[in-house]
Amino acid sequence: MDPQKLKDNFALVAANGVDVAEYFYADLFAREPQLRSMFPAGMSRQYDLLLGALGRIVATVDDHDRLVPFLRDLGRQHHGFGVLADHYAPVGASLLATLAYFSGPDWTDDLEHDWAAAYGLVTKVMTGAAAELVS
Ligand code: HEM
Repeated sequence: MDPQKLKDNFALVAANGVDVAEYFYADLFAREPQLRSMFPAGMSRQYDLLLGALGRIVATVDDHDRLVPFLRDLGRQHHGFGVLADHYAPVGASLLATLAYFSGPDWTDDLEHDWAAAYGLVTKVMTGAAAELVS
């Protein structure tokens, strides 16, 4: 994984502001309509929170001492929201689709591979922390 490439790509995508979060949730709810009811009716706060968290994850993707505690907290919170391990795959698919859409011609197989690896790490740490709450 090339952390700098992920950071540069996220900066390019995030320059589109709230449109990124809007696209992401539209894609997710088209993919998995049953997930819509897990979220509040008004999504604007959620848009900001998602973009903020993604920015923080990308900024610390090569600093696991900071990233892992953040993701463990986020995983425990998500357990409280009723999020299950199976929910992470569609969210990852929507995330990659969103990044590809806003990257346009800059999207490459390498970026797709690196983002998938980063999301795999996020999923592992978040679901691991959530699983400890029920074991
Ligand atoms: C990269 C992975 C993810 C990130 C960065 C992320 C980020 C966030 C953040 C920052 C919040 C707000 C927490 C707060 O209120 O302080 C949140 C809430 C939430 N997330 Fe995620 N999330 C991720 C994965 C998922 C997955 C896989 C699901 C499954 C459907 C999910 C569903 C939710 C729900 C239901 C809420 C609560 C909405 C509410 O009631 O306000 N998230 N997420």
